[in-house]
Amino acid sequence: MKLNIAVLSGDGIGPEVTHQAIKVLKAIAQEFDHSFRFKEAPVGAIAIDQTGNPLPDDTLQLCEASDAILFGAIGDPKYDNNPSAKVRPEQGLLKLRKSLGLYANIRPVKAYETLLDKSPLKENVIKGTDISIYRELTGGIYFGEKQLSEDGQVASDLCEYSREEIERIAHLAFKAAQSRKKKVTLVDKANVLETSRLWRKVVTELAKDYPDVELDFLFVDNAAMQMILNPKQFDVILTENLFGDVISDEASVIGGSIGLLASASVGNKHAMFEPIHGSYPEATGKGIANPIASILSAAMLLEHFGLYKEANVIKAGVEKSLQLHVTTPDLNDNFDHITTSKVGDFIEDFIHNPKDSNLN
Ligand code: IPM
Ligand code: MN
Repeated sequence: MKLNIAVLSGDGIGPEVTHQAIKVLKAIAQEFDHSFRFKEAPVGAIAIDQTGNPLPDDTLQLCEASDAILFGAIGDPKYDNNPSAKVRPEQGLLKLRKSLGLYANIRPVKAYETLLDKSPLKENVIKGTDISIYRELTGGIYFGEKQLSEDGQVASDLCEYSREEIERIAHLAFKAAQSRKKKVTLVDKANVLETSRLWRKVVTELAKDYPDVELDFLFVDNAAMQMILNPKQFDVILTENLFGDVISDEASVIGGSIGLLASASVGNKHAMFEPIHGSYPEATGKGIANPIASILSAAMLLEHFGLYKEANVIKAGVEKSLQLHVTTPDLNDNFDHITTSKVGDFIEDFIHNPKDSNLN
């Protein structure tokens, strides 16, 4: 298969981890006779520094013309501490999501057997957890009208959802559940919010098309508690933009490190793959960033194009690296110089020589 992949590695540790994902994809291309072409473009703080714009036109055009986008991370502390900055790196990511119509953000969360002791949660609570979060990504409070009164004393962000925005992601969530444990949990705040009541109504109606899938509802405050008390109860979680942002960071503690969590953002025409962690500026250039989230995002990219065998080899390589403790310090107390690129090298070698590919 021929794929043109836009690489937007962004800020902080973004370039280091994305580099490992590219290495792994090149190994896959070699072993499975595919042709992957990578083209880089700036986004985020680095793009602001270069052009004044967190998403330069050329970057957006490259993404539009590519089959898929591999994204690193964005963010820089110089903007975090300056709430009045007019141009912010995050705007680049939000504009990219909106312009490309990436309305569904899929975030898998699982407890790896070999890492059960790495989570702050008890092993018996997390063992066997396997969740797929479907977060709506181009609507809600993130994109509603924003206002600040002239005297700067009152601010508002509008949260708005249409039936169509809810239906399109709900279909994806139900379809995903059909090939999983056949359960969808809608996370909302329908006891308070009008938008949440619309979500419940629309999702309940649509559930009739999927009689084999059980539909369940949870208020987001309770869902936050259940995620820690009993994460095994979840299969597919369907939720709006802001709740999905919060719940997915919370869920990341189950796996033992946010450095493991990959994601796919898909729309009708485009698809982007990115680790859910941020730019982790303190770690930039130190070789300590975990590349696995980025590498697993590359595996999701392959799955998106139906290359399941290839994706499975990557996942098996990741499992093997975890099993043998070839891991960065977030997962390794005895950090003996296992750097970001050593983890990438290990998985690259595994692809060329999969010693034990039935691990999955
Ligand atoms: C994420 C991030 C983004 C979000 C930020 C960087 C805008 O936290 O992808 O989860 O809030 O969606
Ligand atoms: Mn987030």
